[in-house]
Amino acid sequence: MGDYIVRGKNPLDGKLKVYGAKNAVLPILAGCVLSGGAVLLKNCPQLTDVSCTLNILRRLGCKTAFDGEEILVNPSGLNTCTVEAGGDMRSSVNFLGALVGRFGRAVLPAPGGCRLGRRPIDIHVRALRAMGVEVETDGDMIYAQGRPHGAEVQLDFPSVGATENVILAAVTAPGMTVLTNAAREPEIADLCRFLTAMGARIHGAGSDMIRIEGVRRLKGCEYKIMPDRIVAATYMCAAVTSGGRLEIENAVRPHLGEVARVLTRCGAEISWAPNRLEIRAPKVIGSCGTVRTEVYPGFPTDCQSQVMAVMACSAEPGIMIENIFESRFKTVPELRRMGAEIYCSGREALVRGGNLRGARLMAMDLRGGAALVVAALGARGESRISGTGFIARGYRDLAGELASVGADIMSEKP
Ligand code: EPZ
Repeated sequence: MGDYIVRGKNPLDGKLKVYGAKNAVLPILAGCVLSGGAVLLKNCPQLTDVSCTLNILRRLGCKTAFDGEEILVNPSGLNTCTVEAGGDMRSSVNFLGALVGRFGRAVLPAPGGCRLGRRPIDIHVRALRAMGVEVETDGDMIYAQGRPHGAEVQLDFPSVGATENVILAAVTAPGMTVLTNAAREPEIADLCRFLTAMGARIHGAGSDMIRIEGVRRLKGCEYKIMPDRIVAATYMCAAVTSGGRLEIENAVRPHLGEVARVLTRCGAEISWAPNRLEIRAPKVIGSCGTVRTEVYPGFPTDCQSQVMAVMACSAEPGIMIENIFESRFKTVPELRRMGAEIYCSGREALVRGGNLRGARLMAMDLRGGAALVVAALGARGESRISGTGFIARGYRDLAGELASVGADIMSEKP
């Protein structure tokens, strides 16, 4: 992946359409191994994490085709429960629940993903053990054995991935699974709608108590992936730092409530219509106040870096508190290089920004990389952003999309 070269202070103006959500399509692709027939997924984003997940499916014996925004998965040739790829992606852990649901056995690499601090899988393991599955880890690999059965499962923390794994393991397990303290992120409700379209019986999707009545088999289906709320939020932040105006299509208001509240606080004007919004930057970016990341419906950790970039473009101080991940302040040294003063203490960062200037920057993770683009759009002069491979994990041609609405950004070939 080449560097992005961004010249800031060019107000964005135009319309962007949000594509399907990465964090919805990845567990849904894992769920395809439970299907008795072909699955056609619509509104799928062209992202490197999606390609890696399709690679996992192919190595498991599934046939896959990705054409435009449609993915076809035919699991009829599925012939192994050993995942041999994808260990660099956190979402590969979704194959744990899906494969034990299908085979009563799974072997997979311990998941990677962006380095946001320790990312253990103890909650997944305890939940699956409660469903009768023996799970052992030896550092690099996860071994699971045993057919899951319905059970009462209470999560210690509403982990998104653990909630998804329990659901995937439970939909074809005999008996009733009652999952409490489940994560309520909209991508989980999307996974449940997909599984329901295949014939699963799930009640309470999107709430913190999900009841799953196991069925004997699931059938193929067609399903449209929900829009990516984090991409929508990133575009909103870019409109604000660039001093511009954007219409964002496929923006779902309830999914963006907390982000909209923070951006309104700093002076942005947001108007809503069904499935779209318009955002206008303020003349001068005010304070975002104190922002705390929380589980849904609180302020999303996946928007923390982008909103910190907005704070860095404001002359008034803001405070960011990261409650979900241990180590998600990787953009801080880069924003400092652009002139922001940021004081960190544990999970809190006090951001004093104002007059950012372009600099050579390094993306260290997916959302942090997007945040550097957001900051560079609001900075005087030129920024060069390396490490854009992280950005491609979760954004489809971010440079091209922003250039289409007036950003001075180009992707330099490596
Ligand atoms: C999902 O990760 C998302 N990934 C992340 O998106 C997102 O940041 C996160 O949920 C929180 O919303 C996908 O959907 C593919 P968690 P996940 O399990 O499932 C701790 C992005 O930028 N924890 O809810 O890994 C964990 O360490 C990405 O798109 C345990 O301690 O998140 C973290 O501190 C990055 N033990 C917290 O819980 C466990 O067994 C939240 O993790 C599991 C999690």
